[in-house]
Amino acid sequence: AEIMRGGYDHFMMKEISEQPDSTFNTMRGRLDFKNKNIILGGIKQYLTSIRRSRRFQMIACGTSYHSCLAVRSLFEELTGVPVSVDLASDFLDRSPPIFRDDTCIFVSQSGETADSMQVLKYCRAAGCLNVGVVNSVGSSISRETDCGVHINAGPEISVASTKAYSSQFIALVMLALQISNNVIDNKQRHEEIINGLEEIPRLISQVLEKKEEIKEISLKYLHGKDSMLVVGRGYQYASSLEGALKIKEISYIHAEGVQAGELKHGVLALVDSNMPVVAFATQDSFSPKVNSAIQQITARDGRPIVVMTEGDNLIDRSKTSACIEVPKTVDCLQGLVNIIPLQLMSYYLSIAAGHNPDRPRNLAKSVTVE
Ligand code: AGP
Repeated sequence: AEIMRGGYDHFMMKEISEQPDSTFNTMRGRLDFKNKNIILGGIKQYLTSIRRSRRFQMIACGTSYHSCLAVRSLFEELTGVPVSVDLASDFLDRSPPIFRDDTCIFVSQSGETADSMQVLKYCRAAGCLNVGVVNSVGSSISRETDCGVHINAGPEISVASTKAYSSQFIALVMLALQISNNVIDNKQRHEEIINGLEEIPRLISQVLEKKEEIKEISLKYLHGKDSMLVVGRGYQYASSLEGALKIKEISYIHAEGVQAGELKHGVLALVDSNMPVVAFATQDSFSPKVNSAIQQITARDGRPIVVMTEGDNLIDRSKTSACIEVPKTVDCLQGLVNIIPLQLMSYYLSIAAGHNPDRPRNLAKSVTVE
């Protein structure tokens, strides 16, 4: 195992650190950065039918579910078709109507998650088109779907999913690009996104270089706490949920991902000078709303740790505990950069509490029971 960990103490740190390469591998051979082109061979045969769908239904669990949430609005923007995102377990409980002209997208690292597999069976019976976004080649979900995109992140051993998240995110962005690249109005946005994707591996490396700073912040403000909030909205709502899941899963600190607009609908009652808060406030069109959420927190003596754009001067730093500056990219891709500090935080908090991040208690890598 030591050789497999490639010099790292844990698979999780190896996999976090691999992301500049794994994200590149997801795009390799599919994105032509020079000509701003995309070719997803795995869905080619079904592309016409996918484009005819009047609805996309995404199905996943855990981290994979968060990757769906991360791309949902981009999918809607580019395709002009409504996108539903459901947890596989909740979908099963509801057994909602599925139409023959729906496209269902199953996102799974392992391709063996029982709940997601159950939904796939249900959808096959309903006669819709089923697309897999899977890491494990030859897995049940990749075999039982009509077509799909392998994320090519390489084997993920750590129970806590890290590199699969960034690769699922990118694979779904590419899927949205492929479905919508026959729409002329999208040309400029497509070019912007493809240029953005090209620089993602480099930007992730830049954030990884801040490891020590992130470790110090985690130990100083979060270690030993029993609970914390992770706040974000718009493109960063998914980052909040995923960041909170990582922290719960391996450091056993209760963490709640909060949509920033929901603070005043209840969560704000928890905020005081003792409640640790991490806020995603990188600049995009939602910044005014995010900054107002930060003010709601600081007005209750909360002192958030803020993930912000490099050189930001909109946020009052004197009222924060710490600022983690990250490089700016295209709005819909920013989550790929922003999640890195939270992955690192969860890792360092786990180690500091004396846990083995690769073996969180009560959890299995692949959940093959319902
Ligand atoms: C993530 O860190 C978790 N271990 C878990 O939520 C996981 O993402 C979920 O079980 C889904 O697994 P899958 O992607 O293999 O279907």
